[in-house]
Amino acid sequence: MRISVIGAGYVGIVTAACLADRGIEVICSTHNEKNAQMINKGAAPFYEKDLEPMLKKAVKKGKLHCTTNREEAILNTDITFVTVGTPMRSDGSIDLSFIEQAAQEIGKALKNKREYQLIVVRSTVVPGTTRNLIGKKIEENGGKKLGESIGLCMQPEFLREGEAVNDTLNPDMIVIGELDKTSGDILESLQRKFYGEKCPTILRMNIESAEMVKYANNCFLATKISFANEIANICELVPRVDVKEVMKAIGFDHRINPKFLDAGAGWGGSCFAKDLNAMKAFSTNLGYKPKIITATLEVNEMQAKHIVELAEMKLGTLRDKRIALLGLSFKPNTDDMRDAPSIRISNNLVEKGATVVGYDPYATENAKKAIGEKISYAKSIDDCLKGADCAILVTEWDVFKDLKPIDFLKNMKQPILIDARRIYNPKEFSNKLQYIGIGMSNR
Ligand code: UDX
Repeated sequence: MRISVIGAGYVGIVTAACLADRGIEVICSTHNEKNAQMINKGAAPFYEKDLEPMLKKAVKKGKLHCTTNREEAILNTDITFVTVGTPMRSDGSIDLSFIEQAAQEIGKALKNKREYQLIVVRSTVVPGTTRNLIGKKIEENGGKKLGESIGLCMQPEFLREGEAVNDTLNPDMIVIGELDKTSGDILESLQRKFYGEKCPTILRMNIESAEMVKYANNCFLATKISFANEIANICELVPRVDVKEVMKAIGFDHRINPKFLDAGAGWGGSCFAKDLNAMKAFSTNLGYKPKIITATLEVNEMQAKHIVELAEMKLGTLRDKRIALLGLSFKPNTDDMRDAPSIRISNNLVEKGATVVGYDPYATENAKKAIGEKISYAKSIDDCLKGADCAILVTEWDVFKDLKPIDFLKNMKQPILIDARRIYNPKEFSNKLQYIGIGMSNR
């Protein structure tokens, strides 16, 4: 089986590189000439752990190449993965224009093909899109009927940034939404070939349920974190209660499980806000106003305000106070600033008249684009802390974990530290400076 991958973004390149690494021939297709050239040299257009060596090896072995010609990619392969982006519109709903364009191009290419082609949608799309938009556009443009010489599946992905290669190679489960048995059988046999003896559970269902799985998954994960943040906010009001102890304990209950229960600065990234907003808009449009999804979004928004209120509680007014932000990316080990909590925290601080300086070991350039000049950017941790009235630990990069109380004391004007990711030992730090930990009584 030869595979084409439409869209050379995050999911596309990781999928292509992993397939090619297992000896499957892959043709990647993007409209971005520069990215295509980079990929053909074995270079990844963005940083992702373990990706580039894999890409280099695959290109060198002739197992992967990238083209800007979608027809070429489709005509020379048997299965086509669609991985183009589905961004958020300003009203929160999903923008399907890239996926619509890709479907048209696939249809046109299939007009010139006699053999059977399986189309597998991996982009996150609201239920109904794969069949009613993608399927229809392919039929219209290809002059063929789905189910005859064209198969259609929807296989959601669950990749985390920074772990995308590992998550592709070791998924918890594989979800196959299928138009018909033939489509599902072909995709299942590809998965079984790819994973061999280590094949995870394969769940087969109809296309619309598979589309919904992806949203339910992200909504639930974001809800877990917002729940932890809500409990953290209550814990702060009660002497001696610590959210870390509480979440650790409930995580032992196997019905709950310990993951995604870390209270902090709130969640960010390219998927959670986009997918929760898309599901909210989709559901509202159907006549049901979702309550938990809405609350999850609200709690996340509030968490940034809450962190700023903690600074206010210590400093009184924030006007003309210098606040140091340690960490700007939405999570450690990435330079991605999409929907990063640091953006919300910076905006709230600046609104209250504070002077904000941020430091990030990796994301400064992207932070400048995302936050702009309303804050300044330090070149080192010491520079960031120098003269600050309060430091807020926003992203838990390893370099910050090594800091000791003296590193804050020697630089800051007032030694006030808000540990929004709970990476420091409260006892050690409270002895030396004014330490405020998220989710523990700070009164
Ligand atoms: C997420 C999903 O995990 C993934 O399945 C989906 O395909 C894409 O969205 P990603 O955005 O890469 O992946 O990041 P993830 O590691 O899930 O973290 C998301 C956000 O939640 C980060 O801002 C992180 O700091 C925050 N988080 C995570 C918490 O605040 N607490 C936690 O316990 C876990």
